[in-house]
Amino acid sequence: MKVLVIGGGGREHAIVDALARSSQVEKIYCAPGNAGIALRAECVAIGDTEVERLRDFAASHDVELTVVGPEAALAAGIVDTFRAAGLRIFGPTKGAARIESSKEFAKELMIRHGIPTADYRAFADYGEALAYVRAHTLPVVLKYDGLAAGKGVVVAQSAEEAEAALRDMLLDDRYGKGRVVVEEFLTGPEFSFMCFVAGRSVRPMPTTQDHKRAFDGDCGPNTGGMGAYTPLPFLTAGEEAWALEHIMQRAADALADEGIPFTGVLYGGLMKTPQGIRVIEFNARFGDPETEVVLPRLRSDAAGIFCAVADGRDCGPLEWDDRAALGIVLASKGYPGSYAKGLPIGGLDRMRGTVYHMGTRRDGDRILTAGGRVLFVVGRGATLAEARDEALADVARIECDGLFHRTDIGHEALEQK
Ligand code: AMP
Ligand code: GLY
Repeated sequence: MKVLVIGGGGREHAIVDALARSSQVEKIYCAPGNAGIALRAECVAIGDTEVERLRDFAASHDVELTVVGPEAALAAGIVDTFRAAGLRIFGPTKGAARIESSKEFAKELMIRHGIPTADYRAFADYGEALAYVRAHTLPVVLKYDGLAAGKGVVVAQSAEEAEAALRDMLLDDRYGKGRVVVEEFLTGPEFSFMCFVAGRSVRPMPTTQDHKRAFDGDCGPNTGGMGAYTPLPFLTAGEEAWALEHIMQRAADALADEGIPFTGVLYGGLMKTPQGIRVIEFNARFGDPETEVVLPRLRSDAAGIFCAVADGRDCGPLEWDDRAALGIVLASKGYPGSYAKGLPIGGLDRMRGTVYHMGTRRDGDRILTAGGRVLFVVGRGATLAEARDEALADVARIECDGLFHRTDIGHEALEQK
């Protein structure tokens, strides 16, 4: 079968890689793709939110399955548009994707269906929000209600910080006109729980942990993610089973009960607090970079899973490789702020393990940096420590002046051992 993958980052590279391992897949297109993806798929120069052009491309190229990576494409209604044209697509409808695109929708759904999460209130009015925050203990968490590319969340330690953030979000309309969710501050290790969901059928993937801060020691600004690993030694099988039943299954059932059944990957951003596991957020798609460490462990046929879920069917139990996977992001110096692009990258031909391209482009024989996050280097091993050593050794083989990376990915798990 011919398949189309939407997106052009490391997540999509990992999806393309998993599809390429399937005996059912004869041809892979990727829109827009990147220089690494181009080694396995034919890249198509259509942007990920150009929904009608993507639909027309799929229809005219006999594409039997389209797999969506980015949230922006989902929020633009790509799934609804494809389905209306009778095309098979893996991802949730725009309505179901609101579990990610609207924090308030997600919060209300959780409260209605008894899914454990932080207490919260939503505000549109600056004065009311400020009065509420002033009457509460600090720190407090402020979330802009809408897609803000991971930048719409502020953990305010002081009243001044909270006021400045509320001003930004509600008075200056920095992200557009919107509301703010004010949340209770929770503590504990965070982890990502991704599941294939088709209506009420929920099939878990191995849990992972992402590292959101730019620098070692979890310092510096929040980013899209600087590294990830799996499995997680700080979660017991019992805790995972509990989260599957009380969080992921309940969320799938909640959406089905409310007439907006979910199809695709439901991503629980969860925290293991002293009071139990709580939801920080839901996403309606594969995590990035979590996908780049999870899919290499997938033994089942990826195309079969995507087709079943896209058709609203249970994809059946999944098989996973036991070996650990740990991946490190190489990002452009300056990221998540401003950074240079177009720097040549050497050493890619000397990698021992897998490297996924997050933001690259080809220029003749050269591979150039083309984004904030540039490469994702994955190590594998019997233990996390082995996987980390392999990843660090491969990172050292990359030659590029303009990149930086974290050296402590997996520290929470590795220190515990
Ligand atoms: P979100 O975009 O909702 O995932 O939030 C981004 C980050 O902010 C999370 O990964 C957490 O580290 C932090 N965060 C969000 N909500 C809370 C909360 N209620 N308590 C503590 N930290 C939070
Ligand atoms: N790694 C976090 C996310 O994909 O949202």
